[in-house]
Amino acid sequence: ISSLIATHESFMKCFVDQTRPSNSSSQILYSPNTTAYDAVLRSSIQNLRFLYSSSTTKPVLIVAATNESHVQAAVVCSRKHGLRVRVRSGGHDYEGMSYVSEGDRFINVDLAALRSVTVDAEQGTAWVQAGATLGEVYYTIAQKNRTIGFSAGVCTTIGVGGHFSGGGLGTLSRKYGTAADNIVDLRLVDATGRILDRQSMGEDYFWAIRGGGAASFGIVLSYKIELNYVPPIVTTFNVMKTLKQDATKLVTKWQQIGPNLDENLYIRIISLAKDDDEAEGNRTIQAMFNSLYLGRCEELLTVMGSSFPELGFEAADCNEMSWLESVLFFAGFSGRPTEVLLDRKPEFNSSFKGKSDFVREPLTETTLEEIWRILMEAKDEPLVVLMDPFGGVLDEIAESATPFPHRKGNLYIIQYFMRWFETDTEATERHLSLVSKLYDFMTPYVSKNPRAAYLNYKDIDLGRTARVWGPKYFKNNFDRLASVKSKVDPDNFFGNEQSIPPIKSL
Ligand code: FDA
Repeated sequence: ISSLIATHESFMKCFVDQTRPSNSSSQILYSPNTTAYDAVLRSSIQNLRFLYSSSTTKPVLIVAATNESHVQAAVVCSRKHGLRVRVRSGGHDYEGMSYVSEGDRFINVDLAALRSVTVDAEQGTAWVQAGATLGEVYYTIAQKNRTIGFSAGVCTTIGVGGHFSGGGLGTLSRKYGTAADNIVDLRLVDATGRILDRQSMGEDYFWAIRGGGAASFGIVLSYKIELNYVPPIVTTFNVMKTLKQDATKLVTKWQQIGPNLDENLYIRIISLAKDDDEAEGNRTIQAMFNSLYLGRCEELLTVMGSSFPELGFEAADCNEMSWLESVLFFAGFSGRPTEVLLDRKPEFNSSFKGKSDFVREPLTETTLEEIWRILMEAKDEPLVVLMDPFGGVLDEIAESATPFPHRKGNLYIIQYFMRWFETDTEATERHLSLVSKLYDFMTPYVSKNPRAAYLNYKDIDLGRTARVWGPKYFKNNFDRLASVKSKVDPDNFFGNEQSIPPIKSL
């Protein structure tokens, strides 16, 4: 304990020296022996199971940065003290890697306070600080102009810092690509504490951050993004189908048409088991066709009538609204004031596990029925299957354009996701094992050599050996990422359980 206190004191002295003349460390540095530490640590955590686990190591100190020099000082002083750094923007990491470790002693740099969004509506660009949430980004750009939006994820409490650097998929991806595809500049603190931008870091380094996961390469302070045009009125709809309403046939059909639809139409499917309202005591599958059309209901009726008549879509299913209201619709906040997007608090106090796959050949009805059987095994909380269509612009961008390699040839990304509220080990094991059972079952039906996975749905089950998980997340881009890493962080200061290693450590 005395050595820990000595480290704290010495780190704080270093930090104060580095951040002169402001010299402030109160309300910025939180050590475990202070009462505020726990509240700051928990402030944005989405996956509580890592806090309950006895096998994770928590931060030696939290640096709640309020200006860029705090981030630089955190890097310089951590190095000096033989500590690592873990960065947190929105706290949504699937494996908790932004705030716990499997043994590394580290400083946590929390960027929640660095969250300004500065929009240049005329140029159609914005500078977004890493600690901003997607909700804050969407809200702020829409205040400027109803016809600008941005292609990124659906959950509005996600942080820009992690999300953009891992890809970023959402309702506009078929039209505008991933969030990373729309980054045109960025500012970052490198492993020596310098601030670099696109010009000073060079194109290789810049390439790596846009899909390679910034955690391996530095601490992103802000991104410059190109905003996307959206029409003043868009249409959303939810159409639910159960087994009796031909859910299996409709999901089968969707696989053929979903990825080939007009770029303005995004239809994802969310499936889970539930009680059958029409037959007491029975369970059924509910498949929800959850959609955004970048246009008006009248046109959508024509598009649906010609491309997916089997769904039985009709005018009464249409909800016309602004694009920002469609963000509320997808986030589950329909009817609430748009200011709800500024609320950063995690919506659930829960734990979760997610795993991802890419589907390149349509699943047969028999395979879907087997999936449904596994979903039916979930007893308390549902095991959810999310299918997000690819196609559109995602097909047109080369696999090597950014480190995010999941492009042409993928029909859709499929995610297996389970959330639970119990905190005991038995409940955790039970839920993890059901998700794994479904993942194992899917082996023959999804992408192979490698069996690809999406970095933003980080999955520690893919292992800790970079040669194994690397090609799954990045395919042929993995070697280039390792080569960039060798140049910009050769001694692996920015390392975690699944960070890109320098080539010499491969
Ligand atoms: P967090 O702060 O936990 O960081 C995630 C990773 O990025 C960590 O390794 C962290 O160190 C690193 N990092 C964070 N900020 C950094 C910075 N400034 N510089 C360098 N490294 C940094 N994805 C998607 O594409 N579409 C979606 O619709 C959704 N939906 C969704 C819903 C829910 C409920 C969850 C929990 C997650 C998603 N995601 C998602 C996944 C999400 O994109 C992914 O978890 C992101 O990494 C989250 O970024 P945060 O900044 O919030 O996480």
